[in-house]
Amino acid sequence: MTGFRFHQPGVVGVGRVAQALALAVAPHSTLPPMMWGRSPARVADAATRIGAVAAPALDHLMAECDAIAIAVADDALADVVSDMASMRLAGRDRLIFHVSGRSGAAILEPLRSAGALTAAIHPAMTFTGDPASEVQRMAGARFAVTGSTTGATDRAMGFVALFGGIAVEVAEDRRALYHAALCHASNHMVTLITGASHALEDAGVDDPAALLAPLVRAALENSLAFGFAGLSGPLLRGDARTIGEHLDTLAAHSPDLLPAYRAMALATLDKLRRAGTLPPDRLAALDSLLAVP
Ligand SMILES: NC(=O)c1ccc[n+]([C@@H]2O[C@H](COP(=O)([O-])OP(=O)(O)OC[C@H]3O[C@@H](n4cnc5c(N)ncnc54)[C@H](OP(=O)(O)O)[C@@H]3O)[C@@H](O)[C@H]2O)c1
Repeated sequence: MTGFRFHQPGVVGVGRVAQALALAVAPHSTLPPMMWGRSPARVADAATRIGAVAAPALDHLMAECDAIAIAVADDALADVVSDMASMRLAGRDRLIFHVSGRSGAAILEPLRSAGALTAAIHPAMTFTGDPASEVQRMAGARFAVTGSTTGATDRAMGFVALFGGIAVEVAEDRRALYHAALCHASNHMVTLITGASHALEDAGVDDPAALLAPLVRAALENSLAFGFAGLSGPLLRGDARTIGEHLDTLAAHSPDLLPAYRAMALATLDKLRRAGTLPPDRLAALDSLLAVP
């Protein structure tokens, strides 16, 4: 789609992702992008901020725009799609996509039936409300694409390429797995670091973040570069006495951390078992220590 221009793309929603998308698509549009949201005041604010135009109504945006992004809260998506499907489309074969991670293209079926090319295009990045820097970060970012047809997938991939993004195709029936994996890696990591920080405070450390930062960054870089071969620590060494002391001290001083520690240690042990690097007697000792009492 190099050199491709939209006539006037539309964005449904006025939140963080909606604003970044509108800003990203503007240089590739003949007319400024059109935005619609359920609150006219918030639409006006967002459109002014981004240099877009406010749609007076959703059916106006549907009738005018040659590509439409739906960037609303996940729980509102099905209802918004149903409303849109009852309205006249600007023409057949228009790309209409949503940006939710958890759903594929199936949720857009009413719009596909109405003649649109439908897809899910999930940016695997974080949007916090700074559209200008988020547009810059879109270049080189990965976007998970799930199209309802080959034509829709191709069009969605072309859309991603417009901003220098890299499309990664995810099958419809693997979409929930894709999303679970992202949440496990990024959301649960926050819980893990927060729990470790509280335990460090209880251990008398003034600035847990400063102490953890180099260690955690190295572990992250190693795991991204080398996978499970980036593991270090007492479980890798089969050091059951150390693990036993960890469990005792967590039970005494940070009992709320114990279930997560135990679950992660068991998952780590399972991977070590598959790797075949620990002698069976060490594995058995660690297994019985970590078993839920
Ligand atoms: N933020 C991220 O890091 C990120 C990353 C990748 C993908 N996403 C996806 O992007 C989508 C939007 O997320 P966001 O972070 O931009 O959320 P957001 O900033 O909270 O914005 C959500 C938008 O949805 C609108 N909305 C909520 N309920 C609605 C309804 N019933 N009818 C019509 N509009 C409704 C809101 O309208 P009001 O302003 O009127 O409340 C708002 O414009 C979600 O699917 C999310 O999974 C987010």
